[in-house]
Amino acid sequence: MPFTADSELDLLFPAEHIPDEARKQLHPDLHLRPLASTDYRRGHLSVLSVLTIVTDPGEDAWVAQFNALRAAPRTYYSIVIVDKALDRIVAVGTVFVERKFLRGLGSVGHIEDIAVDKSQQGKKLGLRIIQALTGISENSGCYKTILNCSDSNIPFYQKCGYEKKENEMAKYA
Ligand code: ACO
Repeated sequence: MPFTADSELDLLFPAEHIPDEARKQLHPDLHLRPLASTDYRRGHLSVLSVLTIVTDPGEDAWVAQFNALRAAPRTYYSIVIVDKALDRIVAVGTVFVERKFLRGLGSVGHIEDIAVDKSQQGKKLGLRIIQALTGISENSGCYKTILNCSDSNIPFYQKCGYEKKENEMAKYA
């Protein structure tokens, strides 16, 4: 499939929100952009499946979820890195902007669902995704950007400039 330019896509948010620095440092065969309404067909779920269990809901339900995220503007920033030769997604990540009543109506960026296709790991794509999401969070005015991860991923996030703070609690339904 030939590479599809941003101008031909229906994007989750305007591409200008992605800082230039992260984009410029990518190999020219790759492209960093917001999630698009047709990315179900570019392997979005297959990349996410390197992170956890993914149940394929079918394209219609996927698009309905995309539209639900877009209906909350300036809140969900999901980005992807595309292999231009194949027009396939090779890395994904999201920052969710939470608006608070404290800290003068401050906001916090929550980084979620970072995944790099197995064949592309170790090539700094994860780092570029985190740099881009952190930039989006900071440019949105977030006073901090936080995430949860396993012990084995702590060194990766330290390389991205993050430090360990407090603990995670969880209760699964
Ligand atoms: N342990 C130690 N160092 C690591 C690790 C690790 N597990 N992973 C990456 N690094 C280092 C790299 O060696 C590199 O260091 P360098 O700059 O000295 O060369 C630096 O971190 C940047 O690494 P990248 O090449 O950008 O890492 P990659 O593209 O492989 O992405 C990721 C890392 C996202 C963890 C990827 O391996 C992956 O998708 N893993 C499976 C899914 C996963 O665990 N996702 C994160 C869940 S947490 C969350 O979503 C908030």
